[in-house]
Amino acid sequence: MNNISLQSSTTAKPLRFKNGKIKIMHITDTHYFYDNVDASVWLLACACDREKPDVVVVTGDNVDNCPDAKDTKYLIDKLMSVFDERNIPVAITFGNHDSERGAMSREELMAYYNTHSSSISVDDGDELSGCGTYNIPVLSSDGSLVVFNLWIFDSNDYDDEGHYGCVLPDQVEWYKRRSDELKNANDGNTVYSLAFQHIIVDDVYRALKKTKVRIPFSYHHMYNKKEFYSFYRDGINFGALTETPCSGYHNYGQFDAMVEKGDVLAMFSGHDHTNAFAVRYRGIDISNTVSSRYNRDRFSSQYGYRIITVDESDTSVYKTNVVHWYGMFKSADAKALISSGDKFGAELVKNVIKNGLKQRLLQTLLRSLGTVFGFRRITYPDC
Ligand SMILES: [Fe+2]
Repeated sequence: MNNISLQSSTTAKPLRFKNGKIKIMHITDTHYFYDNVDASVWLLACACDREKPDVVVVTGDNVDNCPDAKDTKYLIDKLMSVFDERNIPVAITFGNHDSERGAMSREELMAYYNTHSSSISVDDGDELSGCGTYNIPVLSSDGSLVVFNLWIFDSNDYDDEGHYGCVLPDQVEWYKRRSDELKNANDGNTVYSLAFQHIIVDDVYRALKKTKVRIPFSYHHMYNKKEFYSFYRDGINFGALTETPCSGYHNYGQFDAMVEKGDVLAMFSGHDHTNAFAVRYRGIDISNTVSSRYNRDRFSSQYGYRIITVDESDTSVYKTNVVHWYGMFKSADAKALISSGDKFGAELVKNVIKNGLKQRLLQTLLRSLGTVFGFRRITYPDC
């Protein structure tokens, strides 16, 4: 029997398949601040009621650059109340902005998140760089075996020169060690898993088509403006690449290690707010999820969340799709909200629908152009 003895200072309390399935909600870049928090929380609560996820993974830039600890805590409380009230376990890690202004360190933030009943997050202490690198075992429905696993990485904030951060060598070594431990405890069989972190790995550029000139729907390399990248026409790619993937500047072999271990089916990042895609590279789907905030502007309707489902009968595959805020509502919903007396919700839903319509028209136009000119294959909105 494999194990439950796998508990360690970098392992969260295990989750469990329910009736043979686990449903994961990925939210990211909520960037809560006073001017967007009420609308964003209202939409997130709606999403949780609609999806009823078994776990939520929150991958950083959770609270927007707050200058003081009191405000930061108020905004964290707002976010966590959604999960506390619904008893949904939530796994937190951080982005480049969470501790940027220094009001609270990553460790202080994690301690505060962990005062909330729904948090299953782990402070890895002095063991690893950053704060919030851990794994979450997923037990079989009968609770006897670890049959799946979630990797949560702190991709850190910035390097010494101010470039975006990445997973550092000691975290990569930890992953390799832990992956072996999981496999050994599973009678030598791979424990399949999904990985979550704020900043996308720079290997994403090797998964995309490189051109020396800018073609439609291509975006320059984050650190080399003379190289442009787009989806391969015949590659296995889904969703929408709408901005430069802002990867870390350095690469300490995290992705290579995952390819070597063969346990990670897909990686999910945030950070690039409008990118909602997956590209398959060396057997792993490198994916990005849109921001989960709502600022009432025209960009915000395309934001939302990602759902991932895994079936216990075959943990070597998974299903996923991004749900945009505008995809959650019909105009009848606003009327129902008015009847129920939720004026705030009704106005918000009207705003989401109005901005969503503009966004859908724009996306349809872009998709048609992409298909006609063959610059990239888009399977929208699945990604
Ligand atoms: Fe970010």
